Amino acid sequence: MDSAKNKAVTAIYPGSFDPVTNGHLDLIARGARIFDTLVVAVARNLDKDPLFAVKERIEMLEAVTFDWKNVEVDMFEGLLVDYARARGARVILRGIRAVSDYEYELQMAMMNRKVEPQIETVFMLPGEAYSYLSSRLVKELARFGGPVKGLVPALVEERLKAKFS
Ligand code: PNS
Repeated sequence: MDSAKNKAVTAIYPGSFDPVTNGHLDLIARGARIFDTLVVAVARNLDKDPLFAVKERIEMLEAVTFDWKNVEVDMFEGLLVDYARARGARVILRGIRAVSDYEYELQMAMMNRKVEPQIETVFMLPGEAYSYLSSRLVKELARFGGPVKGLVPALVEERLKAKFS
């Protein structure tokens, strides 16, 4: 029998979260119902030009996930599987919104499995209301004064307004 079978399962939900959207929150809610501990892990040092500093992204995530007692927010550098291993996590959680996400997610999951076969990537589907939502489009809307209400938590809406005012 697999000795890991009855142990508590920690899952890592990694991403840029620049900023966290209601789509991310929907996935966090789903993940928190399934896994014993869900670590929302903000990636540092990506080749992207972020709007919010890692510290700000973590602050917002902590505030909006406060009510989930089994959800933790952290950040990581370097390879995701190294971080997952160090955290004793057996699962990487990723959301797939549409078929267009699948190819990139498949590549990443397979590469992560090649490097660390003991860690499984689990995909979940966000609610369909969020299937078109992305941090990138939210930032674009906010930059040009478009409405982001309902797409991001109220705190993030405020922070976006402050960035672009
Ligand atoms: O929200 P994103 O930008 O789609 O998240 C991508 C992320 C952070 C999950 C991915 O880029 C990542 O895991 N980066 C860390 C480096 C790594 O381990 N890459 C995967 C090996 S191919």
